[in-house]
Amino acid sequence: MPGSGLTGRIRVPGDKSISHRSLMFGALAVGRTTARGLLEGEDVMATAAALRAMGAGIERQDDGTWIIDGVGVGALLQPETALDMGNSGTSTRLLMGLVASHSITATFIGDASLSKRPMGRVTDPLSLMGAQFTSSPGGRLPLTMRGASPAVPIEYRLPVASAQVKSAILLAGLNTPGITRVIEPVATRDHTERMLQGFGAHLTVKEGGGDRIIEIHGQAELRAQDITVPGDPSSTAFFAVAALLVPGSDLVIENVGLNPTRAALFTVLRQMGGQIEELDRRDVGGEPVADLRVRHSVLHGVEVDPALAPAMIDEFPVLFVAASLAEGRTVTTGLDELRVKESDRLAAMAAALGAAGAAVEERVDGLVITGTGGDPLPGTAGDPVTTHLDHRIAMSMAVAGLASQNGVEVDDTAPIATSFPNFTTLLDQARDAAPA
Ligand code: S3P
Repeated sequence: MPGSGLTGRIRVPGDKSISHRSLMFGALAVGRTTARGLLEGEDVMATAAALRAMGAGIERQDDGTWIIDGVGVGALLQPETALDMGNSGTSTRLLMGLVASHSITATFIGDASLSKRPMGRVTDPLSLMGAQFTSSPGGRLPLTMRGASPAVPIEYRLPVASAQVKSAILLAGLNTPGITRVIEPVATRDHTERMLQGFGAHLTVKEGGGDRIIEIHGQAELRAQDITVPGDPSSTAFFAVAALLVPGSDLVIENVGLNPTRAALFTVLRQMGGQIEELDRRDVGGEPVADLRVRHSVLHGVEVDPALAPAMIDEFPVLFVAASLAEGRTVTTGLDELRVKESDRLAAMAAALGAAGAAVEERVDGLVITGTGGDPLPGTAGDPVTTHLDHRIAMSMAVAGLASQNGVEVDDTAPIATSFPNFTTLLDQARDAAPA
């Protein structure tokens, strides 16, 4: 296998979900919010630009701290030009929620990947709250929305397990008089709930009949906060899998957010025989955090419990890479949502891993992969794999390249900057570090 193991200590950038929310909630709070460890990727910067266009003051200080001067709930301003969401589904869907309960009109545009993604999942509930939409065919971007003020509170049972849809409704509920209620049959990441409570919103979460019921009382008043953003478990995933696969690896990844609604990949990798140790478990800004020590391991295939999918939804591309090098078969099911991410991740990963020599079968709702038992994949030898403007396909296939004879070429590494601008620098650092 080319190259040496991954060793030393690295620190991945801040959590993308928490970074978006830090800016949005800070922009709606009264007073000055500070955020340390914010992810400075293109997606989060798209959120910052949109919030500035709607009146919030957002600046980066020289020491890396971000300062957000909020306008107060209900006081966003009409943007003068279209809001460019780039590649970011989270920016689009959550900001649509914010605009929905303001009397402003906003147009959302995005890149070719984002313009293919379904928006009906947010425009449906937000229409019930009174917002009006003119969208491109299929309910897609470019899309113009006219918010409603006052908006109407709704009770909405999520038809898809989506934290973005849940959050869009709750954010609209912030400026909606009365109680807006979201019912989640399947729990999804809960950063919106945790953070809104931290900002002082009247938000309650109850369990009942297997559902999670979240209520937000509007109109809320948010108080400015000092936020420390933990490291992103989704970015950690690429390094964790790389260290498991490349012989000689013994890597510590510091400051990893381990919110239980996000951390299922590490559970599955351990089920596969991965040596992943948690060091110094602690609390950072209301989120569980630890340093992870990951050592090269012999992996074996597993059947991944589909109930774990929401808590590792962004990590399947790199799990498929791990499965390609494991001994035996890995079976994944219940992953229809992967088809509507930045790319169709089932099709994209089946094609890319297949091109790199892995044994992959694509099914309607998952992949079945028969691993090499630890032998490196052949690699692509000059014929680049297609990443479809999807950062996670590019990074997953870079990891596959480390675990291959001839390396893997990807057609486009630019999308990596949406979520993990220093990915290559950290990878070089971990591969050059002297073993401990
Ligand atoms: C996110 C929710 C997930 C995830 C995305 C970030 C969020 O999307 O895939 O990367 O921050 O709320 P869905 O809500 O579409 O599952």
